[in-house]
Amino acid sequence: MPTLAYRHPETGEIVDLSIDRDGLAHSVHGELACIDCHRRSYRRYPHPDRPAPGDLDCIGCHEDDDRNLSRGWVDIDAEFKRSVHAVSDSPKAAGFSCHSCHDPHRFRPAAVGEPIAQIVRNHNGVCLSCHGSLSAASSTSHRWLPNRDAHWGSVRCVDCHTPAADFANHEVLPAEKSEKNCVSCHSADPQLLARLYRFQSEEDIARHGLFAKAVFNEAYVVGMSKSPALDRLSLAIMGLMVLLLAAHGLGRYLARRANRMA
Ligand code: HEC
Ligand code: HEC
Ligand code: HEC
Ligand code: HEC
Ligand code: HEC
Ligand code: HEC
Repeated sequence: MPTLAYRHPETGEIVDLSIDRDGLAHSVHGELACIDCHRRSYRRYPHPDRPAPGDLDCIGCHEDDDRNLSRGWVDIDAEFKRSVHAVSDSPKAAGFSCHSCHDPHRFRPAAVGEPIAQIVRNHNGVCLSCHGSLSAASSTSHRWLPNRDAHWGSVRCVDCHTPAADFANHEVLPAEKSEKNCVSCHSADPQLLARLYRFQSEEDIARHGLFAKAVFNEAYVVGMSKSPALDRLSLAIMGLMVLLLAAHGLGRYLARRANRMA
């Protein structure tokens, strides 16, 4: 309940013990009782400061279970262990775990068919909860990216900050190894198709047919938004122009020759 809290006997700080009831109910764990998870470590009182290792971590419970997930837990775990957060020796990153990004009381993976803009907002919210200072207008770190805010509304941090070959988007790379190449997205076959837009539902893809790529994101992505029909039309128009120019040139040449002879 919202007011459940206690005063830490040593530090005197108020520790909030409430969790968001609606958040839990709507999460993947909504069916579980508190003690389904808070079990082993919490039999005795006072409870330990930290749960026993393996007791409360996502992998400890999920390693052998791949239901409903497009990507496996083992891959996610392996990628996370290679990420900047896991290998950083900065004191700020000490104790970094799945829980630093995922609240087990609220966690719900994005579903196919959810609006892309909302998925982008949710997933970027995870990163910005710590890296929020990057959103400030004065932040210089993404200056090279034109119209940063439009990009951040349409693509996710992980689309640039994890390797394209990554399966589960969990190996967050150091800054200097992150995606800076405009063409990986602004091309006819961008990496976004395999990553972000896999959340697009089959019906949407079918409905939009050939123009799927153009409207995938409700965004106009230069290069990606190509239509083969338009390409052929513009080639035909160009060919026609060249013919017209040639005919015009030939006409003038013949006219001059006729004049000179006269
Ligand atoms: C899916 C498993 C799961 C369920 C179900 C669950 N919890 Fe948790 N809870 C956790 C994990 C994991 C942590 C540790 C989070 C961390 O390390 O930051 C935690 C931490 C907490 C904390 C410490 C403060 C915090 O938010 O990190 C409280 C309080 C808590 N849970 C209360 C509850 C209550 C009350 C319920 C039932 C209404 C509940 N939990 C149900 C997994 C669960
Ligand atoms: C104490 C064990 C426990 C912990 C810790 C735990 N889960 Fe679960 N989780 C479960 C159980 C049990 C279910 C099945 C719930 C159901 O079927 O309604 C589940 C269901 C899920 C599902 C949907 C079904 C599936 O398996 O694909 C996802 C996704 C999920 N959990 C993610 C997480 C994430 C992410 C974490 C860490 C933040 C986590 N869980 C931590 C026990 C746990
Ligand atoms: C740095 C933040 C971060 C950390 C740490 C992190 N994740 Fe994630 N996780 C994300 C983001 C962002 C997404 C959404 C990206 C996506 O689904 O492609 C996500 C998605 C997921 C999903 C949904 C996958 C699916 O197929 O829909 C699962 C399950 C998950 N994470 C589990 C974990 C586990 C287990 C760990 C710890 C080993 C972990 N995450 C650590 C940020 C993080
Ligand atoms: C719980 C807080 C937290 C969350 C959530 C988080 N980070 Fe971090 N991030 C850190 C810390 C701490 C560091 C290490 C900073 C340092 O070394 O000074 C870091 C480092 C980084 C770096 C390396 C910076 C460099 O200079 O090389 C990148 C890139 C990064 N994070 C991206 C992300 C992305 C993308 C997400 C979301 C998927 C994310 N972070 C989520 C706290 C967080
Ligand atoms: C279009 C690709 C792209 C997107 C989208 C993107 N980044 Fe970056 N980011 C980069 C690149 C490339 C760098 C390295 C910058 C450089 O070399 O100057 C970087 C640098 C960083 C750094 C380290 C630099 C610093 O000033 O601390 C962090 C942290 C970071 N990004 C987090 C994020 C977060 C959080 C998001 C999502 C809101 C995000 N990035 C979205 C490509 C991107
Ligand atoms: C991770 C994929 C990705 C990368 C990398 C990327 N873009 Fe984009 N870009 C997009 C998407 C998606 C949009 C559509 C944004 C919208 O309109 O919602 C966009 C839009 C744009 C726009 C139009 C912005 C506006 O004002 O409407 C320009 C210009 C642009 N990008 C240039 C670049 C340049 C230059 C680079 C390299 C420095 C780059 N982009 C890298 C995905 C990307």
